[in-house]
Amino acid sequence: RVLAGRPADLAGRHVVISAGGTREAIDPVRFIGNRSSGLQGYALARTAVARGAEVTLVSANVALPDPAGAKVVRVESARALRDAVLAAADHADAVVMAAAVADFRPVRASDTKIKKSAAEPDPIRLAKNPDVLAELGEVRRERRAAESGPYPRVIAGFAAETDDVLANGRAKLERKGCDLLVVNQVGEGLAFGTPDNAAVVLLAGGGSVEVPRGPKEDLADVVWDLVAERLA
Ligand code: CTP
Ligand code: CA
Repeated sequence: RVLAGRPADLAGRHVVISAGGTREAIDPVRFIGNRSSGLQGYALARTAVARGAEVTLVSANVALPDPAGAKVVRVESARALRDAVLAAADHADAVVMAAAVADFRPVRASDTKIKKSAAEPDPIRLAKNPDVLAELGEVRRERRAAESGPYPRVIAGFAAETDDVLANGRAKLERKGCDLLVVNQVGEGLAFGTPDNAAVVLLAGGGSVEVPRGPKEDLADVVWDLVAERLA
């Protein structure tokens, strides 16, 4: 895909993107994962580089080539992703959370491979993971209130919803205190593992931008248009 011909409207900006899907260890050989391929996050990284940004890509378990010109930080679990994103966000203008972050993890990962026996297996007890997007919004609120230094001026999230797409998306945007929430419609050959996406970008304070079905780069460019507008 040709990435030339884009405006350099993110020149001098540092953007942080999370991509892929986290893995939560059950034992040394097994994990709880999800279907995120990382395609949308990597499209965001390539287009941001093409528009002149300094890009930190926090990549969770993605089998795609590194985007040229981006700094790639590899993580496996939600907690490692949180640490990497928060560290990079400290000196970022914008953060886009495209990663599928596991909501839960096994309370304890076994140090050794769990063996099967004649008995039925034990259930896996789960604990809640940190909500990175909500935490970014929270830290920003605190820093703004204390006037203690800069924090990302734009925070964006992604949400894949299957029903009541817009109402669920709007509630999520408000709950997490972000500026933009890209709501994907899952199904019909869209979203996970496909080159195309269709979405509605919900804007804090009301309003939305509809992005028709098309390459994930097109959706990425709409996100960067909205980010650049907010940073200008
Ligand atoms: N997210 C996050 N940390 C989590 C879970 C989600 O930062 N532990 C981010 C995702 O990267 C995404 C956004 O929050 O940008 C929305 O994720 P989603 O799973 O749709 O939201 P949840 O609050 O987890 O709600 P749900 O119960 O629908 O899964
Ligand atoms: Ca979730």
